[in-house]
Amino acid sequence: MTEQAAKTKGKFSASVSFNRQIKPRYWRLGLEFSGEGAVAFGGTRPGQFAELDLSGAAVPAEKAIPEDLRDAAKREVLLRRPFSFAKVESKKGKTHVDILYCVLGPATLRMTTLGHGDVVSVIGPLGNGYKAAEGEKRAILVAGGMGAPPMQHMAQELTAEYPTMDVIAFGGAKSVDDLPFETRPDQILKELGFYLREFAEYGIQSMVATDDGSAGFAGTVTDCLADWLGRNEVNANETVIYACGPEQMLAAVAEIAKERHIDCQVSMERLMACGIGVCQSCVVECKCDGDTEYKLCCKDGPVFDAKEVVF
Ligand SMILES: Cc1cc2nc3c(=O)[nH]c(=O)nc-3n(C[C@H](O)[C@H](O)[C@H](O)COP(=O)(O)OP(=O)(O)OC[C@H]3O[C@@H](n4cnc5c(N)ncnc54)[C@H](O)[C@@H]3O)c2cc1C
Ligand code: FES
Repeated sequence: MTEQAAKTKGKFSASVSFNRQIKPRYWRLGLEFSGEGAVAFGGTRPGQFAELDLSGAAVPAEKAIPEDLRDAAKREVLLRRPFSFAKVESKKGKTHVDILYCVLGPATLRMTTLGHGDVVSVIGPLGNGYKAAEGEKRAILVAGGMGAPPMQHMAQELTAEYPTMDVIAFGGAKSVDDLPFETRPDQILKELGFYLREFAEYGIQSMVATDDGSAGFAGTVTDCLADWLGRNEVNANETVIYACGPEQMLAAVAEIAKERHIDCQVSMERLMACGIGVCQSCVVECKCDGDTEYKLCCKDGPVFDAKEVVF
């Protein structure tokens, strides 16, 4: 099959290359696609996502299930689950993708039992992804909690496609244990530095914020961003902010961007049933040219211009 004839998205099988626990609740899963799947996923944009079928994965042994998820573990996994990507690499006809995930319920619990060589059914790549940073000189990445994966993917893309661009990343969480990064807490200071290895591997400096002050800046990631913007010269016309995280955080980032006239793209999260624009379960209220429009997070998003979202 030639590249032109290959599907740009669809249902593919991927083979698990690794599945590693990075923090008590956070894991990193590596998937490998060959053939048409490698072509389709090789073109994945940061912010796009895939729907994984985890119904066939085994439930972990009783002692490996956190106390608060014992009941959830018993629930069946009927629907596929959406996940974005932390890294995408194509070489020698294969595409490798990394999924960074948080164990929250029956599907993600089952995900932890996947091992090398297991096969997972994946539909994607879905959604639109972040728009390229054409003409921008500076990009600011803001990740709140589990908003980290697409920001890591964005860091990979910006470094490869725009090597002269000035990029800085902000990563925040409630507490140090909730930071979905591999860096040890004692390596994190309040100032800008190469702490978060997921950004440092691309030569990108990062700042860490925790709500309880247990690591880095004491406060929310948006307070940290506002503080940094207040202390640094930023040319709004040549800067873009990319953000992913909880809605309240995205609303705060959108407000900061608006006040400073900086372009801003946000990745919205909604509960998704079909992931392909059929079930209408993922509506996002938007304002376009003064009119209210209801867009679908899975199809029109998940990435939106921050100016159009009604938070
Ligand atoms: C576009 C998109 C990309 C995503 N990317 C990632 C990712 O890279 N890594 C990751 O860990 N998770 C990601 N998620 C969330 C992930 O899909 C859910 O955590 C997962 O479906 C939980 O499944 P579960 O059966 O383990 O838990 P469930 O029992 O289904 O959910 C556990 C709890 O999380 C809440 N929840 C589940 N999904 C969502 C959602 N979409 N928005 C808000 N609350 C939710 C539920 O209401 C429930 O309270 C993404 C979601 C979307 C929509
Ligand atoms: S998840 Fe079904 S329409 Fe978006």
